[in-house]
Amino acid sequence: MYGNFKLKENPVILGIESSCDETAAAVIRGRTLLSSVIFSSAPEQAKYGGVVPEIASRAHTDFVDEAAAKALADAGLEYRNIDAVAVTYGAGLLGALLVGLSFAKALAYSLNVPLLAVNHIRGHLAAAYLTDGQLRPPYVTLLASGGHTAVLHTKSYTQFEVLGATSDDAAGEAFDKVARVLGLPYPGGPNVQRLAERGRAEIAFPSALVKNSAKMQFSYSGLKTSVINYCHNISQKGAQLNAADVAASFQRAAIDPLVKKTVESAVKLGVDTVTAGGGVVANAYLRSSLTDECRRAGLRLVLPEKIYCTDNAAMIAAEGLVQYEQRNFAGLDLNAAAHIPLV
Ligand code: KG4
Ligand code: ZN
Repeated sequence: MYGNFKLKENPVILGIESSCDETAAAVIRGRTLLSSVIFSSAPEQAKYGGVVPEIASRAHTDFVDEAAAKALADAGLEYRNIDAVAVTYGAGLLGALLVGLSFAKALAYSLNVPLLAVNHIRGHLAAAYLTDGQLRPPYVTLLASGGHTAVLHTKSYTQFEVLGATSDDAAGEAFDKVARVLGLPYPGGPNVQRLAERGRAEIAFPSALVKNSAKMQFSYSGLKTSVINYCHNISQKGAQLNAADVAASFQRAAIDPLVKKTVESAVKLGVDTVTAGGGVVANAYLRSSLTDECRRAGLRLVLPEKIYCTDNAAMIAAEGLVQYEQRNFAGLDLNAAAHIPLV
C-alpha cells in the first residue's frame, strides 16, 4: 500500500524536470545540492528555430531514466536512498511534462516515498535556497523567464505577492524574438547577450517599464516592435545595420527597468534581501547590473549560478523540499497541467 511515510530531517530528494526541452534530474540532501544532470534537445530544436513539442517529448522518453541514474551515481547514492521524488507537473508542454511525471510517479510508488508536485515557476524561485542554505523569507524576487516576468514579494515559503508583472510578452520571449529579427539562431537569449557585448547601447528604444501606471507594470511588445521597425527602416534605406548596437540597446531597455524596480521594491518594503530566478537571470548584463544596484542600496543579493537560472532539476528538488517540509504530498493521480497560475 502506497503511503504511511516516515519523514526525515534532511531528506534526500530526487528532482525531475521535463517541461520543455531539458531532461533534467538532480539530487539534494536538505539544502545541499549533491548532483545535477541536464540533457538538452536544444541543438536538435535549433534546426527548426524553436521547440518542437514532439521532439522534446521523444528526447525526454529517451533520456529521463539515464538522467536520473546519472544524478544518483554522481551523488554516490542508489535508488533505495531516495526519501522523496519531486517533479514538475506544470506549466509546460503537456506531452513533455507527462514523461517526467510518469517516471516520477512510478519511482515514488515503487520506493514508497512521497511524491512532491512542483510548479515550474516556484522551482525557479526556489533555486536561491540552494545558493544560500540560510535564506529565509521575507525578501523581494525578480522572476524573468521565457514565459514570465515579475517582481514578487516573497512573504513566506508559500506566500507570494506579485508587485508588478508584464502585461504582454515575457522578457525571455522578447530576447528570443529580437534574436530572430537579428538572424541569430535558437536559443535566442544567450546569442543576443553575446552580440550585445560587442555593441554600444546608444539607440533610444522604449523602456520595458510602463509609465504612468498606478501599479508597477512592464511591457515588452512595444520594445520588440520598435526594434523590428528600426531594423526595417535601416534595410529600406539600404544602410548597414549595426546588429551589435541593436542588441546592446535592446538589452539595456529590457533589463534596466527590471533591476531598478526590484531594488526599489526591496527598499520600499524594508526587506534586506533580493533573490532572482528564471532563464533571463543567466544574462551577464542583468547579473552585473543587479549586483551593482543591490550593493549601492545596501541589499544582500542571493543570485543562483547561471546554470541554475535556466531550466534544471536542482531547483525542482529545492521547491520539493519546501513541499516536503509543509507535508504537502501529491497523490499518484497527479496530472500534468499546461497552464497554472504564476505562483
Ligand atoms: O527559465 P527558462 O530556462 O525557461 C522557462 O521557464 O521559460 O527561460 C528561458 C528563456 C529563453 O527565452 C531564453 O532566451 C532566456 O531565458 N535566456 C536568456 C539568457 N539565457 C537564457 N536571455 C537573455 N540572456 C541570457 N543569457
Ligand atoms: Zn524555466
